[in-house]
Amino acid sequence: MNDLLPGEIERWQLLEATIRRVVALHGYREIRTPIVEPTPLFVRSVGEGTDIVDKEMYSFVFHDEPLTLRPEGTAGVVRAYVEHGLHTKEPVSRLFYTGAMFRGERPARGRYRQFYQAGCEVFGDAGPVVDAEMIDMLVGLLREVGVEKVTVLLNSLGSGDVKLRYAVALQNHMSGFGDALSDDSKRRCWTNPLRILDSKSPKDAEAIATAPSILEFLSDEDKDHFEHVQALLVALGTPYVVEPRLVRGLDYYTRTLFELRGEGGELGAQNALGGGGRYDKLVSELGGPATPGIGFGLGLERILLAMPQNKIETTPSVFLAPMGERATRQSLTIARSLREAGVVTHLEGRGSKLGSMLKRASGLGARLAIIIGDTELEKREAVVRDLAQSLQVEVPFAELVSVVTAKLGRPAVQGAP
Ligand code: HAM
Repeated sequence: MNDLLPGEIERWQLLEATIRRVVALHGYREIRTPIVEPTPLFVRSVGEGTDIVDKEMYSFVFHDEPLTLRPEGTAGVVRAYVEHGLHTKEPVSRLFYTGAMFRGERPARGRYRQFYQAGCEVFGDAGPVVDAEMIDMLVGLLREVGVEKVTVLLNSLGSGDVKLRYAVALQNHMSGFGDALSDDSKRRCWTNPLRILDSKSPKDAEAIATAPSILEFLSDEDKDHFEHVQALLVALGTPYVVEPRLVRGLDYYTRTLFELRGEGGELGAQNALGGGGRYDKLVSELGGPATPGIGFGLGLERILLAMPQNKIETTPSVFLAPMGERATRQSLTIARSLREAGVVTHLEGRGSKLGSMLKRASGLGARLAIIIGDTELEKREAVVRDLAQSLQVEVPFAELVSVVTAKLGRPAVQGAP
């Protein structure tokens, strides 16, 4: 779990602001659900026999109720969708969320126990237009934050009994490898064979490479849906690679499944920047009406690792350097007026010497210093010094706000915290 400190948080804010803007342009509206949910919600949706449910959940019992820190966002959003009867309010809901998720995984670069996701879920639209639109939005979004090298992996898990029939075929195939498989996969052969395809163990590599393809099990309608998604992506000019072994570590998926892999930057082996897919049965499985769904989750830490290390432009600021108690009192009023005009203002209230105040102003990256001493107080004016150019002018108090905003070039704080 990480602390995110000033200095690095600016890149986070840029990423989050871009995501918010892009999803809003696509008609998504924000939903906030609790970080804690009843444990059975995740067991029923993410699925028994998945790594998340079997090994990674932060679960505890509070007053006899089993609870879990959310390991992902979809289950809580579906619960809220059902609980508040959102289907009765609109035929299609497009929801966006962002926040911390918790998985007790082995920590590595790009893999943390508390990590941040931004995700979207669409309810009530069986696609395939929404599938293609969502994938295209993600590629565009990543490009906008400078992550250009992205591969879209695409698969279909079909509907109806496709996963079940494929699981039987996979079980037959895998049991042929007997003891050569990893211990986890031997167990999963009987509990959840599809999860073997997620295995990174070298012992399972050959069995996975020679496994049958799920695409051969799709119904005609599933195939039609999958081909339609692909045709739309081609029409959009969004490249993708069909990967029949892509199953992803969650049980709720049906039909379209996708993952965005990055490369470069600081990104290491954990290169899945995000992923998602359809879950046309999940809403009804969690007690709601039969409603198709599709969504994705983006891993913000990983996107930040892949993002170029551009210097983030900070909002220009002003440093008020009063000398003496009377000047400090006057500066408090001036600071308030500047802030009301949208100027980021630092006020030195510790009564320092001018030299050390100007040093502090440079340390904070301030563009201007406003110096007020006894002489200035008498004349009701301040010295405004441009710290980069070491030029200074005297400005009457009454004109300070307009002179400062003009010098800074843009008056208002733009998306600053
Ligand atoms: P997921 O693939 O489990 O899907 O997670 C989505 C993304 O979260 C991953 O691609 C990765 O970038 C990031 N992520 C996952 N685990 C970690 C970790 N331990 N540390 C850092 N980043 C991590 C879901 O969670 C689904 N809810 C996505 C979805 C929404 N499907 C349909 N709707």
